[in-house]
Amino acid sequence: MFYDSNKKYLIDFFKKRRSIVAKKMLVGKVLKKDLNSILEIGARVPDHGALNPWKIKVIQGRIRKYLDEEIILKEFKKNNKKASEKELHIESYRMQRASTILAVLSTPINHKKIPKWEQYLSAGAVCTNLLYAAQGMGYAAQWLTEWYAYNKKLLKFLGGNPKNDKIAGFIYIGKKTSDPKERKRPNLNEVVNFINQG
Ligand SMILES: Cc1cc2nc3c(=O)[nH]c(=O)nc-3n(C[C@H](O)[C@H](O)[C@H](O)COP(=O)(O)O)c2cc1C
Repeated sequence: MFYDSNKKYLIDFFKKRRSIVAKKMLVGKVLKKDLNSILEIGARVPDHGALNPWKIKVIQGRIRKYLDEEIILKEFKKNNKKASEKELHIESYRMQRASTILAVLSTPINHKKIPKWEQYLSAGAVCTNLLYAAQGMGYAAQWLTEWYAYNKKLLKFLGGNPKNDKIAGFIYIGKKTSDPKERKRPNLNEVVNFINQG
């Protein structure tokens, strides 16, 4: 059981944590020991049957520029022949907005008892855990898919099989400059129902 002060700290974190959007974060640097903890926390998720139906790909350093210029920008150009200079500029540095991007691949298997749906949910849980771990350590972090999460060439480059696997998300981790403003949160009365008897 947690001591009361730890418990309060944890609950406050979960009640107040927020994503900092990639376009507002600084590139920063993620300490190796922090990254190891983030990955460990990310992989510690509910996972029916312990199938590990997901993979985490760590994207750091020069490969970011390569992915931006050789895959993201080129694929964008191929599918958007009339793109403006401004749009092309945005596509040319997507992954260079943060020092570390964790790509989470959902890699479900056919299993006689465990439906793929549950394996997809576990991949989502990996994304959430990675996000919360990074935010808990004081980094700016955001879960993004943008259009390129659905791009087959990028999926293949990351080691995924387009016939089976999907990119569940990219967790961008950079440096926080200031606390973000709160966003609209659901009214609990609209999303929660107590199922009472009688
Ligand atoms: C699967 C998934 C994909 C997302 N993709 C995008 C995206 O492409 N672009 C975007 O602006 N927000 C995207 N978001 C939303 C943000 O990551 C995030 O939910 C929002 O900024 C508020 O997060 P917070 O509750 O952590 O503050 C996505 C969220 C999820 C769950």
